[in-house]
Amino acid sequence: MRFLLFVSLVLGCGVIFAQETLTMDMLKAADYMKGKQTFQGRCSACHTLSDDGADIAGPNLWGVFERQAGSKPGFAYSATLTKEQFEWSADRLNNWLADPKGYLPGNIMGIPEPVPAADRLDLISFMLIETGAVDWPRPATAFTANQADRSLPPSERFPSFWNHLMYNTVRYRWVNESAGEELRFDVYNKTDGSIASNIKGLTGFWHITERDFFCYALTGMPVGVGQMVECFPVAAMAIPRFSEELWTSKPQKGVALHGGIAPGRPDWVDGVVESTKN
Ligand code: HEC
Repeated sequence: MRFLLFVSLVLGCGVIFAQETLTMDMLKAADYMKGKQTFQGRCSACHTLSDDGADIAGPNLWGVFERQAGSKPGFAYSATLTKEQFEWSADRLNNWLADPKGYLPGNIMGIPEPVPAADRLDLISFMLIETGAVDWPRPATAFTANQADRSLPPSERFPSFWNHLMYNTVRYRWVNESAGEELRFDVYNKTDGSIASNIKGLTGFWHITERDFFCYALTGMPVGVGQMVECFPVAAMAIPRFSEELWTSKPQKGVALHGGIAPGRPDWVDGVVESTKN
């Protein structure tokens, strides 16, 4: 009997706590911008993170990783959270977000679904930074002091961004399920402002705006309406990352465009004229 009870306890815990432990190394290497996106999509309706942020439907989370659960003065927590004695850690938060109702039964944080495992690492890393628990660099501060000097070319204002976007291959996967379209293609941003691709007739150009957005246009696409324009903040690419699929955007109705960066210059780029100005 005792043995059975023991087994079922172990199994029971196994089900709830079978989470991977998040090490500081993993968290430090996580994707800040993706974490930010997840926070904005899933948490920011109810929580602020900054030092002087207000309580909304949920408590302000500044300093949350150093405080006991349910202990921010002035916030009306559930009885469940009020009586908990633990301090929030990355692992505790990871476990809670994986099972928002089951981890702390009776809590009143009404999120509609668990946060997918693929998003939790980036989210928690972003929260550690933004709630003051660690002093890891944000992409915005990964720039050099030259960033503010608009008389300099982008290669000097944003060297990390520049080297990443200009000397590597951007890999796309265009998917429009209802139209039955799937197209994989690669592009190469040239330093002269033009864009080459590995698909015949597909070309484009790019430009960095006054507000430091990287905007690019592609034409001659054999899918959709044949062309598209997109912009993203230079800051989103400040920390070099390589992966087949780093982001997904919706350039047209019904289309998911997955993008990633593959290292190096592809051999289909001919006669690239390298200059450091755009
Ligand atoms: C619908 C509003 C809502 C959303 C969305 C929401 N929360 Fe909460 N959150 C709350 C409430 C309410 C509490 C207090 C729960 C309680 O007292 O049981 C809370 C508590 C917390 C706490 C514990 C704070 C403390 O002081 O102990 C953390 C950490 C937290 N939320 C993180 C998140 C994260 C991360 C997300 C996004 C994945 C999120 N929350 C989304 C409403 C929300």
